[in-house]
Amino acid sequence: MTLPGIDIPDELVLESTDAGLELRQRSDRPGNGVRADLSGGRRGTHPLARALRGAQGVVVDATAGFGGDAGVLAALGRSVLAIERNPVLFTLLEDAHRRLALEVPTRAEAVTLRHGDARDLLSGLESPWNRAAAIVLDPMYPGRRSASALPPKPMQLLRALLRPDGAMDDVETLIASAFRTEARRVVLKRPPEAAPPEGVGKPTFSIESKLVRWDVWERG
Ligand SMILES: C[S@@+](CC[C@H](N)C(=O)[O-])C[C@H]1O[C@@H](n2cnc3c(N)ncnc32)[C@H](O)[C@@H]1O
Repeated sequence: MTLPGIDIPDELVLESTDAGLELRQRSDRPGNGVRADLSGGRRGTHPLARALRGAQGVVVDATAGFGGDAGVLAALGRSVLAIERNPVLFTLLEDAHRRLALEVPTRAEAVTLRHGDARDLLSGLESPWNRAAAIVLDPMYPGRRSASALPPKPMQLLRALLRPDGAMDDVETLIASAFRTEARRVVLKRPPEAAPPEGVGKPTFSIESKLVRWDVWERG
């Protein structure tokens, strides 16, 4: 299936399956692709819970991707604004949101999707998002493991999908936009070996796991 108005690289297919809309390599079997997922995934203490501890309120996920982190935030009881600029990923997120609304309606109500570039949208957010407890950023990273610890298949698909944009998101301007808001925390998800971003000082604290480092800046 081709969705009208959505450009997609030749090697990829966006297709409806019984389980929902999926993105896959053309060479993969139908059903073997990746869907966005806002259901919150695994249980247990997620590093995002620690990153947000002590900061009450709504959260903005400015780089929603396949929705994994936005889903975790909603599962943690937060209202989440999930921003995504890529139209294919946004369409996948809309599909995930419809599925979540059928499965866990209250959870779906906690998630608001917005299509656009976070670098523009963050400066004009309305209440309650303009006073978020935190803005979470998970831009693509050029390093070896990259794409911030997504499992291999979603990571490959993201790379194939975003390659025409240079794949590497502009972390410095993204984080600068986040710092211009009144959000009380800025949370940046990076591979452990990534250098800290320039111009924003040292994070207040970091949470490290094998594949990911969460840098957290507490503000005012
Ligand atoms: C590594 S993925 C995020 C994965 C996501 N955290 C998850 O759990 O699935 C990065 C995403 O950020 C999006 N992105 C990058 N820069 C953006 C921007 N300025 N505004 C909105 N979305 C952006 C990319 O299109 C990509 O989908």
